[in-house]
Amino acid sequence: MVPLKRRKVSLSGTLNAGTHSSGLTEPTKFPHIVLFLLERKMGASRRAFLSQLGRRKGFQVQELFSENVTHVICENNSGEEVRMWLESQRRRQAKLHLLDVSWYTESMRDGFPVEILDRHKLQDLVVNDLEVIPFSLPSYACQRRTTLENHNTLLTDALSLLAENAELSNEDGRGVAFRRAAAVLKALPSAVTDLSQLTGLPCLGEHSLRVIKDILKNGASSEVQSTKESERFKALKVFTGIFGVGSKTADRWIREGIHNLQQLRDSGHTLNRAQQAGLEHYDDINQPVSMAEADAIRETVGGAVASVLPGAQIVLTGGFRRGKLTGHDVDFLITHPEEGCEVGLMPKLVSWLDSRGLILYQKTTRNSYLESKDGPGRPPANIDRFERCLAIFKLEVQSEKHVKSQSGELCQHLQTEAVAERRWRAVRVDLVVSPVSQFAFALLGWTGSKLFERELRRWAGHERSMSLSSHALYDNKQGRYIRAFSEEEIFAHLGLEYIPPSERNA
Ligand code: CTP
Ligand code: MN
Ligand code: MN
Repeated sequence: MVPLKRRKVSLSGTLNAGTHSSGLTEPTKFPHIVLFLLERKMGASRRAFLSQLGRRKGFQVQELFSENVTHVICENNSGEEVRMWLESQRRRQAKLHLLDVSWYTESMRDGFPVEILDRHKLQDLVVNDLEVIPFSLPSYACQRRTTLENHNTLLTDALSLLAENAELSNEDGRGVAFRRAAAVLKALPSAVTDLSQLTGLPCLGEHSLRVIKDILKNGASSEVQSTKESERFKALKVFTGIFGVGSKTADRWIREGIHNLQQLRDSGHTLNRAQQAGLEHYDDINQPVSMAEADAIRETVGGAVASVLPGAQIVLTGGFRRGKLTGHDVDFLITHPEEGCEVGLMPKLVSWLDSRGLILYQKTTRNSYLESKDGPGRPPANIDRFERCLAIFKLEVQSEKHVKSQSGELCQHLQTEAVAERRWRAVRVDLVVSPVSQFAFALLGWTGSKLFERELRRWAGHERSMSLSSHALYDNKQGRYIRAFSEEEIFAHLGLEYIPPSERNA
């Protein structure tokens, strides 16, 4: 009956590393106990509340399931269900306690981990420590948590390069195959050391496996190497680096014997307005946008939105919402809490910005989305209101290389000499306006990553017989649209565990 109560001063690394620790988090009192609360059936908000409570009481409660976890806490789950979930998360671990939430709440009440009684046990599970443990993952990227950092960057960089090359060569099928393979490796809990660990993993085709094998054996892949160095790949990269130029146009130029920007300028080709702007601001646009620059643009656009439509709301989407530190552009989604108020916002916003000299190029497209046309159902309200603007902004930059960001810390602007000299730079910006009834779908759709989005749609179609877009979710079986007002609700409707933006980096 003696509870496992340890009052030792915590060892290094036990201060709830990796969790969003608040000032309320106590140092770990029980360093040998690492808890993980299963969100399934418990729900995200109750899980967050219970996790916080635990941390305040000095327990280590981990946000993510890892091999350090010693106790899994579940609510309203059967042993069978949890075992199946564990199967999909397989990690190297000796003994794992699968406990009902009652053990947790009693431990919270007493302030220490109470003795585990039979009634607390869901199931005692022993997983053998095998020599080489094959990895196991669910097949869709939207069922997995993929952070920005991964344990296999050598492999994922290689596969991503092959994906990029395939996409630039208009071989979309091959591109997706390489992206999926890379995404699987990004989600692995540790580095791959042996090809045998990959047996049974989804989405690893023959070609990808060959590349992986090469890298594991020789430290590099000759195919990746020669692709990277090929004149064609280099030229495709240069040309598609021009805003407004896609792989088809780039390919045509290459076939005409044009291989660099100077040759393109000399060729006398007529470029459209987007391409002209793209060529003019080529260096700036191909310079990554920093978080500080995204913040600055957020301020400007936020101010503009507030003055043309008070009450309108703006959120940063795209890679920055997923926690990326740099991006190729800055993506914003704008809405108004009152349905219909957002109509006509985009032209007003653009002319506000334009009249202040903040826009170097822009093209606004009205969205042609019509639920009654696009889907078989005939729901009301949201008709043809989704607008988007692809723009090149003129961003003022301070001449100093270091400036204070909003949060006060010093951060480095990724600026070139030329930019420092002229005190402004061109930045690609995407603006999207959505009616509030579609906001959750637009937010989910514009947060990315591109593969994560693709996988969500594939999951919806293949596994749920639903169609997901940035506007709506349609249930093909029931023949109706499913409303949702948050991303959490959409995941729930799709029968998926909620994945936060920072873990959608597939
Ligand atoms: N998107 C879209 N329709 C487009 C272009 C983009 O729905 N015509 C979505 C993509 O699916 C992605 C998001 O917008 O989810 C952001 O796209 P993009 O800015 O291209 O990519 P990021 O992930 O933001 O990467 P980066 O940081 O390089 O900008
Ligand atoms: Mn982006
Ligand atoms: Mn974008």
